[in-house]
Amino acid sequence: MGSSRASASEIREVQRGYTRVDGGRVGAGVGADGVSTSRPKWLWGWLGLYWLLTILMLILVGVYISNSGGLQWKNVFSPVRMFNFHPLFQTLGFLTIIGHSVLIYRVFPDANIWVLQWTHALLNLFGYILMIIGVYSAGWSKDAQAQGERRTAHHFVSVHSWVGLVVLILIAIQWLAGFFGLLWPGVHGARRVAVRGVHIFSGNIIFLLGCATVLIGIDQLKPTSTMNTMALTVAAYALLGGYLLSTDVFYRGRMYRHPDARGQMEDENAPLASTTVRYT
Ligand code: HEM
Repeated sequence: MGSSRASASEIREVQRGYTRVDGGRVGAGVGADGVSTSRPKWLWGWLGLYWLLTILMLILVGVYISNSGGLQWKNVFSPVRMFNFHPLFQTLGFLTIIGHSVLIYRVFPDANIWVLQWTHALLNLFGYILMIIGVYSAGWSKDAQAQGERRTAHHFVSVHSWVGLVVLILIAIQWLAGFFGLLWPGVHGARRVAVRGVHIFSGNIIFLLGCATVLIGIDQLKPTSTMNTMALTVAAYALLGGYLLSTDVFYRGRMYRHPDARGQMEDENAPLASTTVRYT
């Protein structure tokens, strides 16, 4: 057990449930209380595997696209080629960008919280815009194909399209709630801790539901060894991502509030003269 003095702003950060009272400086290995604050090295191994799966997904979707008409910009109005933007943009926007954005708090636990928050919000927004373009491509290619065959296109007829729509709506709600509840203007004190808890839980669920949407989307395509491998890769990605997002081991350091700060949740500005550094 050791003790240290903390500035009022550090204490406020801790009260908001964001940082350790030492601002991450003890994170080199062992905390002042003798408890290890660094994350186990094998977690970097899991992260490496996550990156390998991401690269594999991008290669497989590229192989699928090149085997089914490609993406020639000059022929973008061909329905087949227009549809190909759908798996491409969902793999880039959802699986790659959002799939990594959700992990940044765990990969960089000691980074400046404002940088993390804005990076997380902007990456999610960018990924979401790509997803919207991707869904538009699927709908547009359906229309173009139906027009060519002189019939009317029917949208939102498959399970994939309905679950996909739910995922899009949930991501929008999650983003707005995260932005206005946690980033700007943001709630504080005990309410903030509660909002963060819900945000982390619902973010995990939305990530898994999005991966499930990709799987049932792949099932809509003509079965090929490329897309079957893609499905297995996405399933592994979902399992690993779900684990990395939910394990406490990986979140150690930023998650735990200072025990002495708890009693002051109602008054964030109350000065704390001295505090005991202990991670529970
Ligand atoms: C590699 C990933 C994906 C593949 C292979 C794929 C495949 C497909 C296919 C074959 C269709 C046309 C059939 C239909 O109308 O249901 C489609 C449509 C659709 N997809 Fe995906 N999908 C993927 C990812 C996603 C994701 C992540 C979302 C959203 C979260 C999504 C949302 C939609 C929606 C809303 C439609 C309906 C468009 C319409 O009916 O006009 N897809 N997808």
